[in-house]
Amino acid sequence: VENVGILAMELYFPSQYVDQNDLEKFDGVSIGKYTIGLGQSKMGFCSDREDINSLCMTALHRLIEKNNINLHDIGRLEVGTETIIDKSKSVKTFLMTLFAKEGATDIEGIDTTNACYGGTAALFNAINWVESSSWDGRKAIVVAGDIAVYGKGPARPTGGAGAVAMLIGPDAPLVFDCGVRASYMTHAYDFYKPDLASEFPFVDGKLSIHCYLSALDNCYNLFCKKMRKIDSDFKGLLSLDGMLFHSPYSKLVQKSLARICFNDFLNASEEDCEKKFPGLSEFSNRKLKETYFDRDVEKAFMAYSKELFQEKTEPSLHIARNVGNMYTPSLYGGLVSYLISKSPDQLIGKKFGLFSYGSGLASTMYSINICKDISVGSKLDKLIKSLQETVSLLDKRECVDPSTFSELMEVRTKNYHTAPYEPSGSIDALFPGTYYLLKIDDQRRRTYERK
Ligand code: ACO
Repeated sequence: VENVGILAMELYFPSQYVDQNDLEKFDGVSIGKYTIGLGQSKMGFCSDREDINSLCMTALHRLIEKNNINLHDIGRLEVGTETIIDKSKSVKTFLMTLFAKEGATDIEGIDTTNACYGGTAALFNAINWVESSSWDGRKAIVVAGDIAVYGKGPARPTGGAGAVAMLIGPDAPLVFDCGVRASYMTHAYDFYKPDLASEFPFVDGKLSIHCYLSALDNCYNLFCKKMRKIDSDFKGLLSLDGMLFHSPYSKLVQKSLARICFNDFLNASEEDCEKKFPGLSEFSNRKLKETYFDRDVEKAFMAYSKELFQEKTEPSLHIARNVGNMYTPSLYGGLVSYLISKSPDQLIGKKFGLFSYGSGLASTMYSINICKDISVGSKLDKLIKSLQETVSLLDKRECVDPSTFSELMEVRTKNYHTAPYEPSGSIDALFPGTYYLLKIDDQRRRTYERK
């Protein structure tokens, strides 16, 4: 099989959001902290009407419907999520209701979990399956979804919610490079959810930034090394047309691009250094490990990378800024944002790097090529048009004031374990086609309906 990758994609984000300007005032923090300091505009959230099953169902159904997918043509369905509402039963089994109805039950795959990385792990499983001897010729679907909520405090404005669904198979317009995926995995307590009675994580904000950036350093250097083995001309960031990141908040992504440039700077030969990084020689003795919170390095390389950021990364942040951290779908929201910012002829033959990070921690940098083959041009065209339509829903959302948002969060928190339970969240507020939770019965079984 050739050109295995993403054939089609759909995204779902909640119909309600809170404005970060309003949230700054409501939280009593200094004006600009969330909007400029974190680089966030709006944060999507769900009432108790939605849970991880409904979110993933909505994205999946949208993908199937918009692409007329024959359910018997799907041989694998994978879910990536860190929103756990059942310690045994997977989200995938709920998604099977759609398939089982049609008698399509011969479908491999199950849920994968590690913070924001689960979606990427699920995606790799699907790609690997299509490329393997187990493959039976059918396509795979990957769904990644999460509800990202934090307790009151500095992390709360970095929440969000959403789900992405991707159709995987050969002859795709978005093709994965083979043999160059570069991972960095280790143990860290930067963000984790050991309290099964609560929806909220334990988070050490500063440590999580440190872990994210050190994972990036490791993945980027290894990725470049592996790339140079297959292409001796590979020049790192300069050989990539786009550089996309998992986005907890947009400012961290901008700092990450600067960090990549700092890596390039440290790796450059002495003569290249002067030529390519004029005026930065004072930083040549700095070490990666000692500079995670070095203000001078950060400032200098943010300034150096400003245009590179505008060109290669900024177009990928539209959804992240306006929905927030969706956790597992975050990076794929970045891919969607990037794709809809261009026309197919601007994309043909382009290559971009993607950095996936999940606390705890698991991370990988990998790359996608937009197929040069004109025959897939129409697939790409269809993909972009469909996503543009979906993303235009951002403007059709309802802005909710922070006090109502806070009350809805209270309801979620209070009833996280209530059974039997009937949600009180508005059905009217949901977009047409959204799945929602109807009730939880006394045996804690959940039933859903579609609007
Ligand atoms: N105007 C402009 N900028 C401001 C203002 C203002 N009025 N006030 C503060 N800022 C800036 C700060 O200088 C800071 O910028 P810097 O990052 O360049 O230093 C930024 O806004 C944030 O302010 P802090 O005081 O650093 O914020 P705080 O420590 O309160 O919280 C944090 C930020 C740690 C990111 C918190 O939101 C958090 O814990 N989030 C969840 C964890 C997270 O997302 N980690 C990222 C990787 S792991 C993952 O994906 C979950």
